Amino acid sequence: MMTRLAILVSGRGSNLRAIMRACSEGTLRAEVALVISNNADSMALETARTAGINTAHLSRQQFSDEAELDQAMLHAIEEANVNYVLLAGFMKKIGPRVLAAYKGRIINIHPSLLPSFGGKGMFGLNVHKAVIKAGETQTGVTIHLVDEEYDQGQILAQRTVEVKTDDTPESLAARVLIEEHQIFAETIQKIIDGSIILPGQ
Ligand code: GRF
Repeated sequence: MMTRLAILVSGRGSNLRAIMRACSEGTLRAEVALVISNNADSMALETARTAGINTAHLSRQQFSDEAELDQAMLHAIEEANVNYVLLAGFMKKIGPRVLAAYKGRIINIHPSLLPSFGGKGMFGLNVHKAVIKAGETQTGVTIHLVDEEYDQGQILAQRTVEVKTDDTPESLAARVLIEEHQIFAETIQKIIDGSIILPGQ
């Protein structure tokens, strides 16, 4: 049975498209079974729908409290019968029910070399602004397991990217994104073929 993935996205979804491309090329032996976004306007939902992938728009405003949203997220993911849950630019915390049910199988991508430049508020251009402000000569991408805290789970893979002296946050983000689009699918494939062993596997 092909490995099945649920992918959670909040924004433009370039990492989702990179995963979808790797699946269609066969370099990632998996299929995207579900795309969930908290943002009804996310391009990711449109991308998935166009590709015939099941989607769900689940956001806090639709529910009376976080617990109900967490339960709805869990139900949607369980219905999709997936092996792993990928966070590809998902800006919300994962609730305790989903975390418990998929512990050790929720994987995030972060655009820095964690533990540096991670944690609350460290997302998007904020990360690259902080890297440049700190005068770093290197940054990169981290793929890690998701736990109760932002960007603190076990690191599964990292790749470095040079910071150029004339970099702007935007130019640095663009160069890091090129690496993101490769390392995410590569790491998931290594989990599938057993060259990366997740805890509890
Ligand atoms: C990426 O930089 C990713 O590392 C971070 O959020 C951004 C999402 O970009 N978690 P996209 O939606 O995949 O284009």
